[in-house]
Amino acid sequence: MRLLVCGGAGFIGSNFIRLMLARYPDYKIINLDLLTYAGNLANLKDVEQRANYKFLRGDINDSKLVESLVKDVDIIINFAAETHVDRSIMDSSAFLRTNVIGTQTLLEAAKKYNRRYHQVSTDEVFGSLGPNDPPFNETTPYDPRSPYSASKAASDHLVRAYFHTYNLPITITNCSNNYGPYQFPEKLHGLFITNLLEGKQVPVYGDGLQRRDWLYVEDHCEAIDLVIHQGKVGETYCVGGEGDRTNMEITNKFLELLGLGEAMVAHVKDRPGHDRRYAINSDKIRRELGWAPRTSFEEGMKKTVEWYKANVDWWKKIKSGEYLKYYEEQYIMR
Ligand code: NAD
Ligand code: DAU
Repeated sequence: MRLLVCGGAGFIGSNFIRLMLARYPDYKIINLDLLTYAGNLANLKDVEQRANYKFLRGDINDSKLVESLVKDVDIIINFAAETHVDRSIMDSSAFLRTNVIGTQTLLEAAKKYNRRYHQVSTDEVFGSLGPNDPPFNETTPYDPRSPYSASKAASDHLVRAYFHTYNLPITITNCSNNYGPYQFPEKLHGLFITNLLEGKQVPVYGDGLQRRDWLYVEDHCEAIDLVIHQGKVGETYCVGGEGDRTNMEITNKFLELLGLGEAMVAHVKDRPGHDRRYAINSDKIRRELGWAPRTSFEEGMKKTVEWYKANVDWWKKIKSGEYLKYYEEQYIMR
C-alpha cells in the first residue's frame, strides 16, 4: 500500500509514520509537510533513511503538487493543520487557509483520482460539555467555539460533503487530547513538563478545573491504523482515552513525578472562550473495530515525563527559538 501522510512532521503525524513503518515494512510512505513552526524533521530522525519513506517539503494548498502525489498513492491521511487554540485566538488566518482550504485542495485531488481519504479530526468540533452531560459520540451535533475548532469543523463538513456528493471514499476520526513524545512545547504537556525541568513555573489558565480526556499518542495512531484498514467508508469514529482529568490533576501529577511543590504553579488569566469540558464515548470503534487504548494514564504520564527528560536537546532547540525562529521566518516569507 502507498500512503500520502500530510503533516507527518508534527506531533501525531510523526508518531503515526513511525508506527506504520514498524508494522508494515512493505508499505511506501510519502510525508508531505510544510514545516511550519510546528513541523520538525528531528521528530523522524530515526527513520529518515528508510528506503520506503520519503519526506517532501510542501503545502497541502499547492494543488499541482498535491495532485502529482495523490495520483500515485492508495490513501491520503491528513494530519496537516494549524492546531494550537491560543494561536487561533490571536490570528485565525492560517487556520482557515490550511485547515479548510488545504483540506478542500486534498479532497479535490482525491476526487480526481478517486482515492481513499482519511481526515484526522478532533473532539473540539463538538463544543463544550456541562458537568453532567454525557460524553460526545458520533451523533453529537457540531458546536465549535474557538477559531481552531471552527476551522476543523468546517473541514470535517467538507469531507462528509465529498462523500455524499461525489461518493468519495472517506473516513473521519474525532479524537480527544493527545499527549506523549514529540509534542511541541506550547501545548499543556510539552510546555508544563519542559518549564518544570527548566525550574520555571507553569501557567495554569483560570482555576485549572477544565477537564480533558487524555489519550496517549500511540493509542490514537493505532486507532487511525484500524480505521484506514477496516473502517467503513463514509463513517466517523470517536476516539478517546477515558483519561478524563482536570488540568490541575494533570499539573499535580507532573509535580509528583518530578518531586516538585505547589510553588511551581502560577494561575494566570484564562483563555478567552475556554471550553470547560471535553469527554468522548469510544464505544463505536471499540465495538466495530476492536480498538482499545493500551496505555494507562499512570503509565503514559510516566513515559511522557521520562521522554522529555531524555530528550532535552530536542525541546531546548525549540524553546531557545533556534527552530522556531527559522521556521517562522520561512513561514512568513512564503
Ligand atoms: P502539530 O501542530 O504538531 O503538527 C501539524 C503539522 O502540520 C506540522 O508538521 C506542520 O508543519 C504541518 N502543516 C501545517 N500546515 C501545513 C500545510 N499548509 N501544508 C503541509 N503541512 C502543514 O499537530 P498535531 O497535534 O500533531 O495534530 C495533527 C492533527 O491531529 C491535526 O489535524 C489536529 O487537528 C488533529 N488532532 C490533534 C489532537 C491533539 O491533541 N494534538 C487531538 C485530536 C486531533
Ligand atoms: O481535544 C483535542 C485538541 O486538544 C486538539 O484538537 C488540539 O489540536 C490540541 O491543541 C488540544 O487542544 P487544547 O486546547 O485542549 O490543548 P492545550 O494543550 O492547548 O490545552 C489543554 C488544557 O490546558 C486546556 O484546558 C488549556 C489548558 N492550558 C493550556 C496551556 C497551553 C493551560 O492551563 N495553560 C497553558 O499554558
